[in-house]
Amino acid sequence: MHRVSPKTAGAVVGIDGFLADHEQKSLLRFLTCGSVDDGKSTLIGRLLSDTKQIFEDQLATLERDSKKHGTTGDDIDFALLMDGLEAEREQGITIDVAYRFFATPKRKFIVADTPGHEQYTRNMATGASTADLAIVLVDARQGVLRQTRRHSIIASLLGIRHVVLAVNKIDLVGFDRDVFARIVADYTEFAKDLGFSSIVPIPMSARFGDNVSRRSAQTGWYAGPTLIDHLETVAVDAAAGQPFRFPVQYVNRPNLDFRGFAGTVASGSIAAGDEIVVAKSGKQSRVKRIVAQGRDLERAVEGQAVTIVLEDEIEVSRGNMLVAPEAPPHVADQFTANIIWFDEHPLLPGRSYIFRTETDQANATVTELKYRVDVNSFAHQAAKSLDLNEVGVCNLSTQAPIAFDTYAENRTTGAFILIDRITNATVGAGMILHGLRRADNIHWQSLEVTKSARAAAKHQKPGVLWFTGLSGSGKSTIANLLEKKLHASGLHTYILDGDNVRHGLNRDLGFTDEDRVENIRRVAEVARLMVDAGLMVIVSFISPFRAERRMAREMMGEGEFIEVFVDTPFEECAARDPKGLYAKALGGEIKNFTGVDSPYETPENPDIRLTTTGKSPEEIVDALERWLHERNIAQRPPADEGGSI
Ligand code: ADX
Repeated sequence: MHRVSPKTAGAVVGIDGFLADHEQKSLLRFLTCGSVDDGKSTLIGRLLSDTKQIFEDQLATLERDSKKHGTTGDDIDFALLMDGLEAEREQGITIDVAYRFFATPKRKFIVADTPGHEQYTRNMATGASTADLAIVLVDARQGVLRQTRRHSIIASLLGIRHVVLAVNKIDLVGFDRDVFARIVADYTEFAKDLGFSSIVPIPMSARFGDNVSRRSAQTGWYAGPTLIDHLETVAVDAAAGQPFRFPVQYVNRPNLDFRGFAGTVASGSIAAGDEIVVAKSGKQSRVKRIVAQGRDLERAVEGQAVTIVLEDEIEVSRGNMLVAPEAPPHVADQFTANIIWFDEHPLLPGRSYIFRTETDQANATVTELKYRVDVNSFAHQAAKSLDLNEVGVCNLSTQAPIAFDTYAENRTTGAFILIDRITNATVGAGMILHGLRRADNIHWQSLEVTKSARAAAKHQKPGVLWFTGLSGSGKSTIANLLEKKLHASGLHTYILDGDNVRHGLNRDLGFTDEDRVENIRRVAEVARLMVDAGLMVIVSFISPFRAERRMAREMMGEGEFIEVFVDTPFEECAARDPKGLYAKALGGEIKNFTGVDSPYETPENPDIRLTTTGKSPEEIVDALERWLHERNIAQRPPADEGGSI
């Protein structure tokens, strides 16, 4: 949900030129949302055309295409214009959200054009994060739909306070006043708790232009404004009096004499001579110069892209934030936040994601999913995960402290995205509600007997041998035999075995994806404590997901984690079926069984892969022991070396 820099594309003119041309006019940013086929593209096309923003050559092409492919006879099909730009986007030329600019004599506008039905929520969250107003489109024949509600909730969560309820295709219901009134009543009732400060319903036909820029002769019963009238006059609350926030995008150092910090003022303003502090380090300095396009400015305000030069040579790197000293942001590593989930794979509490704000990045997990919001009733529902397009409130914990404002205070510094660590896809957007105080009161106790002292007393190098593989693949048998040998050689060992741990510590967990993530998270934490105690730990869990195996690896020190993939084919495990579970699972008696109706993500780069078919457990363990020996893992040092490891 980062601010995406506006790009020049199609009917769009460069933002700088556009803003300069219309410098004196106020700016309104908005987006359109609603259900599939509600006429979003047609409306944007209509707005651009009515305000003469479509270039002549584009109009000509459009007329030709409309006759060929359009659904509107000889009229221009404005949806084709947007679809054409969409096709451009699919070829990877432009970005997901395009910003289109247009102006009327009274005001200038930036509309976030958020294409795609599949990924709509993600694009919408991007476009909405800077918008002042949302046009919620409703097809007059359909009324308020689930999507209408979902997008309205998301608009509200993203801080939009003004809504136009565009009851579109009013021509297709014969310009019927009652249909309009019913939809308005439905929507008003639904939206009463969404915190919008204005909802303006307008009956319109984007296709024919009724009540877009031209008052319709067919809706004599409608006394309100046309869409353009309203967009030109709606008063959007200027975010006055917010403290200065300047996320540093990069350090600009063209030569030894110049060192400036480039970025966009996220809120407040700054003038030469003002004091600033660096958000997390607390280092202070004073603004020496503010530079934009080679000119020095007296002052820079919200939304302006500038380079700031400081009086002192203090440490400020990319990803830091310059802020007003009298009103610094919060710093915490635990928060409560609203989350909008975009990914087909659900959000799973306990899984590690990359948490990224405008300035910070850290690994993070959802420690508690407090509830999911039902988009129809707003009811708070208990939930263990969030699915595609769902919205919920959760607690998060980041590995390092983050500097932030709450989203209510600041829509830039209070927002974050979550990124999947394996696919690198943006999977969710978040709005911080507040930091968690408990984070302030728990400190890391530094203990005097250290891991290395504890390990030295045991004359060994601690670590984890992490066995992963299907149920019945032979993990426990191999782990057990190996431990016997390591123990006999004098090593201090311990086995954490799935079946056993599930009898105690993890007896509350079942076999859903969420529970398996939590199962592995807890075991990895226990394994870490055991490594800290100086032990050689053998972990034997199916551990079916790459993400959690990777998380476990990252929790241990360098060289302390060895992933052992016990690679026995499904058919073989099912044939062996030592506990009779495959028979039950294949017969439908057990649900979520790994390899049957629950996935196993094969390790891509295990440290060692053990194939078991046609080999005895003893042979396999001998081979594993040799492998460990060659790498000096899990070896007892020779007696004459004493305690050194
Ligand atoms: S994990 O997927 O969360 O890592 P874990 O290793 O703890 O699983 O537990 C797996 C053991 O639980 C299996 O060896 C098997 O004995 C038992 N079990 C019971 N039901 C299931 C199931 N649905 N899927 C897999 N294992 C199951």
